Amino acid sequence: MSRVVAEDPGRFLRTFDLVFEDPADRAGFTYLPGQFCEISILGKGESPFGIASSPTEDGHLRFTVNRTGSVTEEIHALREGDIVGMRGPMGNWYPVDLFRGGGVVIIGGGFAFTTLRSLLVYLLAHRSEYRDITVIYGARSPELLLYRDELAAWAARDDLALHLTIDRPVDGWDGLTGFVPSVTKSLAPSPADTHAVVCGPPVMIKFTLPVLTELGFPDERIFTSLERRMKCGIGKCGRCNIGPKYVCIDGPVFSMSELRENPEPV
Ligand SMILES: Cc1cc2nc3c(=O)[nH]c(=O)nc-3n(C[C@H](O)[C@H](O)[C@H](O)COP(=O)(O)OP(=O)(O)OC[C@H]3O[C@@H](n4cnc5c(N)ncnc54)[C@H](O)[C@@H]3O)c2cc1C
Ligand code: FES
Repeated sequence: MSRVVAEDPGRFLRTFDLVFEDPADRAGFTYLPGQFCEISILGKGESPFGIASSPTEDGHLRFTVNRTGSVTEEIHALREGDIVGMRGPMGNWYPVDLFRGGGVVIIGGGFAFTTLRSLLVYLLAHRSEYRDITVIYGARSPELLLYRDELAAWAARDDLALHLTIDRPVDGWDGLTGFVPSVTKSLAPSPADTHAVVCGPPVMIKFTLPVLTELGFPDERIFTSLERRMKCGIGKCGRCNIGPKYVCIDGPVFSMSELRENPEPV
């Protein structure tokens, strides 16, 4: 553990930078935005977390962890210099090759912005290969937006349209207010040669996907990342299925076309 940052005043959200004990392991660890790892605490258990760093960043792997139960409580107790176990990278990724040459709309809600940060940093590192990039990111309140220093830097760029929204107006907030699906509807990003990526709490995903359809994004150009409870992470235990698919190996990233084939709700 090389760096620990508290993201919110309530200290439910912490960002951890991990470095490999053996630098050779880092060299052999290749991943793309959207993938996840299983992080384990000896004697306590293991949980999956999306990788928040981008492969274009050197040195560390970043994770942002919401303290919700036993494993995440133990992870929150970690300090710089502590050692954790990790399996990964796991799962599939946002299809950045498919996005190349066109526009990308990134839509995020709450602390699920982690793998979207990875995607955005990746796209910005290859900026000339993608057309316009739009980010719509919402949280309940300003202090629950992740990576606030970076948000300020991204807002200042002229090659990126960043729209931040919070649920209700508060003093000092000069961004948008309203839930992500309705903000997306009113901003109405153009679907022309553009892919959309959505990641957030299930309720946000549920109401944002139809908005994208209404705006004219075809199913094969809408992607979302899903969460299910996991155990093995490698397609063996059958814990994480959505219909016939396993989120751990067929996902976590699915296109809207794939989801339509599935009888289960998001
Ligand atoms: C692919 C994937 C990527 C994820 N990425 C992140 C991430 O970047 N940051 C992050 O903080 N969390 C992430 N999660 C969720 C994280 O894995 C769970 O919050 C964690 O396993 C909870 O472990 P725990 O032992 O602390 O909680 P537990 O004691 O097991 O459970 C505490 C509470 O959390 C709920 N819970 C547990 N697992 C999940 C889950 N998968 N989805 C929804 N609710 C759950 C339980 O129902 C319970 O109410 C991800 C999950 C998946 C499947
Ligand atoms: S977690 Fe075991 S099959 Fe997906």
